[in-house]
This record gives sequence, C-alpha cells and structure tokens, in this order.
Amino acid sequence: MTNVTDQDRVLIFDTTLRDGEQSPGATMTHAEKLEIAELLDEMGVDIIEAGFPIASEGDFKAVSEIAERSQNSRICGLARANFADIDRCWEAIKHAGKNRIHTFIGTSPLHRAIPNLTMDEMADKIHETVSHARNLCENVQWSPMDATRTEWDYLCRVIEIAIKAGATTINIPDTVGYTAPVESADLIKRLIETVPGADEVVFATHCHNDLGMATANSLAAVAGGARQIECTINGLGERAGNTALEEVVMALRTRNDIMPWHTGIDTTKIMHISRRVATVAGFPVQFNKAIVGKNAFAHESGIHQDGMLKNRENFEIMRPEDIGLSGTSLPLGKHSGRAALRDKLETLGFEVGDNQLKDIFVRFKDLADRKKEVFDDDLIALMSQDDEADDRLQLVSMKVTCGTGGQAESTVELEVDGKDIVATEHGDGPVDATFKAVRRIYPNTARLQLYQVHAVTEGTDAQATVSVRLEEDGMIATGQSANTDTVVASAKAYIHALNRLIMRREKAGPGADTREISYKDLT
Ligand code: KIV
Ligand code: ZN
Repeated sequence: MTNVTDQDRVLIFDTTLRDGEQSPGATMTHAEKLEIAELLDEMGVDIIEAGFPIASEGDFKAVSEIAERSQNSRICGLARANFADIDRCWEAIKHAGKNRIHTFIGTSPLHRAIPNLTMDEMADKIHETVSHARNLCENVQWSPMDATRTEWDYLCRVIEIAIKAGATTINIPDTVGYTAPVESADLIKRLIETVPGADEVVFATHCHNDLGMATANSLAAVAGGARQIECTINGLGERAGNTALEEVVMALRTRNDIMPWHTGIDTTKIMHISRRVATVAGFPVQFNKAIVGKNAFAHESGIHQDGMLKNRENFEIMRPEDIGLSGTSLPLGKHSGRAALRDKLETLGFEVGDNQLKDIFVRFKDLADRKKEVFDDDLIALMSQDDEADDRLQLVSMKVTCGTGGQAESTVELEVDGKDIVATEHGDGPVDATFKAVRRIYPNTARLQLYQVHAVTEGTDAQATVSVRLEEDGMIATGQSANTDTVVASAKAYIHALNRLIMRREKAGPGADTREISYKDLT
C-alpha cells in the first residue's frame, strides 16, 4: 500500500512497459505485456507505467487491459502536453482501481526548440495541460523532460506552475543520463527547499544510464528528498537503459544502515521477473550484471570457494534466496516424472496448468534424452520457448555438412502455411548456410541486427540459447531458442523472429507505417 505520510518509504514506479519497451527491438506482444504487468503487481510495484496510449492502438489496448486487471498497483499512462494525448490516456486507465496520468514536456533549451515555444508560451501550455489532466484524474504526474539540463530559474518556475495546476507528483528526468550523484541529490534538495508548494507533492527521480550512474543518481536523489524512483527490470531502456529496479531495491535493503529508506517490493520475485523480461524483450542479461546476472552469485575462483565454505558472508553481501534464486538443487534426469518436474518448475517461479505441463513434459523428456542431467537453467531455457503451434513457419528438419575451410552446406525443410518446402544453400559456416536456406524458402528483406549465443550450463552437452534480432522496414522482431545443438537453436531463433515479424506485419495491415514508434518522434 502506498503511504506517502511515511517519510522513509520510497515508491517504486516501474516503466519497463513504457520506457523499457521503447528500446529498439524490445517490443513485447500484448500477452507478454499483460504477463509482465501481473508479475510487477504481484511483486509490490507501487506504480506501473503501462504504456503510451496514444502511440498506437496496441499500446492503448494493452494499457486498458492492464488497468482493468490490476490488483494493487496504481496504473499510469504517458501523455504529451496536449488534450488529445491526455484524453486518450484517461480513456485507457480510467477503469483501474488506482490510476495516474503522466504528462510531460521538454523544458531544456534544446527541447524547447522542438515545438518552437517561448518560455512564456510553454509555461501557459503546462498550466493548461496539467489542469486538464487533473480535471480528469485525481492523481497526476508531471515531468519537465531533460530537467537536468534546464535553466534553474525556469525549472523552478514551471514546477511551481504544475503544482498550482494540480500535479501530485513532480518527476525530475535525467533524460540523457547527464547528471552525477552529488548534483542529483543537490538538485532535488534545492527544488524542495525553493519551489512554493513542493512539500505537498512527491518528488520523483527518473535516470538514464548513459554514464553508468543511473542507480547512483537515483539513490542520491532519494537522499536529497525524492520519494519515488522510476526504473525498469534489468535496466531495460533506450540507449544504455534506465535505472535498474533490482539494483535500487537491493541497494536500499542491503545498505539500509546508511540509506534508511524502504520499498514495498517482495525481493524474492526479482529473479523470475528478470528472466521473463529478458526473454520476452529479447534482451539477454549480461553475465556480470549486478543482482540478476548469471555470475552475480557465482563464486568460482578457488580462494572464493574456500572462503565461502568457511563463512558465506566472506564474499556474499546478499543471499541468493533474497532475490528468489533457489540454492543448489539436484538436477532432473530422464527418469524424473511429471510431479518432480512440476515441483521444480514451481520452485523456479513457474506455475503451470495440467495441459501446459503435458506439453512441457514432452519437451523435457526430449531434452533429457539428449542431456544426462537437466539443470534449473535448462528448465528456465525450456520455459522460455514460445508455443509455436500457430506459427506460419515451422522447422521440420535440417541437415548440415561442414567443410574444414569454413564452407558449409545446409538443407532445411520448413512447413510454410501447412506446405512442406525444402531448400539447400551454401554459406560461410553452418549458421550462415542455414539462414540462407530459410531465406530461400521464405524470401524476405529482414536484416540480421543481432545474433548472440550463450551456453546455458557447462559441458559439451550444454544447451545453447540463441537470440536473433531482425529488422525490416523499420520494424524489429526478436526470436530466441535453446537446444543442445547450436545450429538447430540458431535456425529456430531465426524462424521465431521471422514469425514474429510476419505476425506484426499482418496486424499492422497493408501499407501501414511499421516503424517503431518512439515518444521522442512524437514530441
Ligand atoms: O527520459 C525521460 O525524460 C522520459 C520522460 C517521458 C519522463 O522518459
Ligand atoms: Zn526516460
């Protein structure tokens, strides 16, 4: 429960579905957005920024449905400083138990030049639009975009106007990741001391990570008096991303001795949502990422292992269980039954119905036949595979021959809309030859933007997770797959991305402008 009278309580405002999803290539499907919103709600996020309702019909529908389904979190939608955006936003969020309109305008000299408004004209616009939002919704957040590069006097002036017009939260965005911790703390502190009415609203901090300081800047802002941190899971977001939710939450919890503020987050849900966001957004988490990286709790060097065995506090400042990582657990094998599989999936945070379990069990058996031991990470990779039943392109079989000089030949058989088609191609290595064969069967102009391979566990029978990102006419789609054979995983990830591209193109309709929409294009 949000309780702003508790001076030590920091509200967590998650914008994975808005600022995070705007990251090129991180686009999520409708069902994926609903799933992530539900997980955020369950983990105790105070405010979920669910999207930008006027940006597209899809965004509007996702925000509306998230608003209708929300249980505890306040649901927020983004709107530029105009009545049409604000009205559309209100339409989408009005059915939530608790809602918020978030309206913004760029106030720095560079951003003021975009709509070509004088300082006075912009001040009037802020008054009109915040008042309009407040007439619709009792909870209004206002952001002066690029606040950290806005002139001090003008920043104070426009914040005062927004407060007078009815804003209940004032967010201070560091839009380009330019500030530093000392400045971040000082800015919030001075604004609260200077702007009339500042003590009646909540000050929020919204940091981008261009200089790698987003977490530090957000925590410094809290020290300066901010009581809302805006963040995303895994730090997802444009360019270097946003403040990572898991980092600020765990920092406040672990160093509460020097940062005596608390959040309402159930930290044991962190690991599961981190994995889900990485999968659905197609942005794998770097191995050494703080809190949620694969190596964050791995103590591999001999000295560390010895120290850990004597006393885990020698090298661990947090316990893996605190973020929902189960301790070492026994792997499953080909003799494990359904009950054992369901039990293991539940400890990993996956709740599956009977029908879903049947399907997963078949895939698990197939994997266990190829791999002696099926570890937790193998199961997580298995759970990340999409249901392919409705896909237009399906891999039926493939055969690859590699020569020693790097040349390879790949024969791929695909089912395309129910019809089997076979093609053989040569290429610079097996993956290149395979992608060419797929392109021969399903001609397309999609450009390969990203191709990444990660080993899920150790050993030569380890599964490889492959991520592929494709771009065609400005539309981006990602695909992932895991298999003990890297080339098969690559083919499946490529086909998965193609299927998503086809689906998105069909949804957009003929002649539609399929470019990724960014709120910056819309300002
Ligand atoms: O970074 C930014 O300035 C934003 C605003 C819309 C708050 O995301
Ligand atoms: Zn932002």
